[in-house]
Amino acid sequence: MNADILRRFVRDIPDLPKPGILFRDITPLLADPEALKLAVDAMAAPFAGKEIDVVAAAEARGFIFAAPLALRLGAGFVPIRKPGKLPFDRNSFRYELEYGADELEVHVDGVSKGENVLLVDDLLATGGTMEACCRLLEQCEANIIGCSFLIHLVPLGGQDRLNPYTSHSVLRYD
Ligand code: PRP
Ligand code: HPA
Repeated sequence: MNADILRRFVRDIPDLPKPGILFRDITPLLADPEALKLAVDAMAAPFAGKEIDVVAAAEARGFIFAAPLALRLGAGFVPIRKPGKLPFDRNSFRYELEYGADELEVHVDGVSKGENVLLVDDLLATGGTMEACCRLLEQCEANIIGCSFLIHLVPLGGQDRLNPYTSHSVLRYD
C-alpha cells in the first residue's frame, strides 16, 4: 500500500524542537522522485473531478506540495505568505498563538469570490495554520472545497479546528 511505502521516507527526529517531541522530517521523501510523486498523487486523488480553480498554501512547506497538486488538478497556485512578503495589494488575517500573534496574507486578486479552492500543507498539527488560511480565504469569499495534507499528527487535535471543511491526509500518526 502506498501509505506504507511513504511512511518509510518520513524520518523521526527525537527531541526536536524540544525534549519529548518527535519531529517528523519529510526531507527524505522530498528527495526521492518516486516517493514525491506518490505523495503528490495521493494528496490530489480525493479532489480529482472537484473542479478546483485554485490550490492555495502557506509558506514554506505548503508551497512544496501545492504547486504540483495545482498542475495535477488543472488549477492555479496562490501563495499565502507572512506579512511583508507579497508585492501587490493584500488581504490579511491576524490570529492568536499561545504566545503572541501571527498574520497571513494573500493578494487581493489571488482568489476571487466563488472560486473553488483546495488548501494544501505538508502537515496538520494543532491546526492553527490551516484554520488561519481558511479564515483568510473566507474573507475573500472563496468556496473552500477542502484541505489536503501529507501528514496528520492526530493527538494534536488539529482536525477539530477545521470543521466543517473536508480534510484529507495521506499519513496519520496516532
Ligand atoms: C509547519 C507545517 C504547517 C504547520 C503545522 O510549518 O509546515 O504549516 O507547521 O502546524 P499547526 O497545524 O500547528 O499550525 P511551520 O510553521 O513550521 O513553517 P515552515 O513551513 O516555514 O517550516
Ligand atoms: N514535523 C514537522 N513539522 C511539524 C511537526 C513535526 O513533527 N510538528 C509541528 N510541525
